[in-house]
Amino acid sequence: MSQIFRIAPSILSADFARLGEEVRNVIAAGADWIHFDVMDNHYVPNLTFGPMVCQALKPHAKTPDGRAVPIDVHLMVQPVDALAEAFAAAGADLISFHPDASGHVHRSVQAIKSKGCQAGLVFNPAQPLDVLDWVIEDIDLILIMSVNPGFGGQSFIDSALRKVEAARKRIEASGKDIRLEVDGGIKADNIRRVADAGADTFVAGSAIFGKPDYRAVIQAMRHALA
Ligand code: DX5
Ligand code: ZN
Repeated sequence: MSQIFRIAPSILSADFARLGEEVRNVIAAGADWIHFDVMDNHYVPNLTFGPMVCQALKPHAKTPDGRAVPIDVHLMVQPVDALAEAFAAAGADLISFHPDASGHVHRSVQAIKSKGCQAGLVFNPAQPLDVLDWVIEDIDLILIMSVNPGFGGQSFIDSALRKVEAARKRIEASGKDIRLEVDGGIKADNIRRVADAGADTFVAGSAIFGKPDYRAVIQAMRHALA
């Protein structure tokens, strides 16, 4: 299991009127990845931002000393492939999608990888991991939803912990270097439980952007993980 924990603030909870500045500020506060929640008012009942916003933010996704910070695109869209390719062209580094939103999961994974991005699969709270039987060899990331997708600020669903444990076992059995990310309701006071279940990457939206001091929240999360 990877020893390196990553914190991926979701800009879903950032101030949309100042997105570039928010991205720079949260990176300066210690963010490892920028989590970019794409909602289409079809697969989920909400509408956020598309590839043009990703492209506009790309130059802001750097540390103060100029190191690029990965943009982690979470597609909550149906269909998947055309938008995934548009996000690859817009500078996404990782692109994850919900397998139930694609008629051809293997093809969607290959479409993402053929554009030079890492590919991930996302599992809703009531969805099994079965599709991994057939595609785990091809992916770079598993994203377990610990809320129903569509909105920030929801409460963590505890059954996600069992699913994280099950996903970790599958990763170990595959022998592959696959990131295990969890998304929804993560805060400094529950992140340790999520890590103990086997996660190595943590999305947090409202917990970070809902507080005035982003650095203090990220440090509290790292302290809980240490
Ligand atoms: C929900 C999104 C999450 C969300 C997490 O559909 O995928 O990334 O922003 O927000 P919090 O951390 O507020 O639960
Ligand atoms: Zn997300």
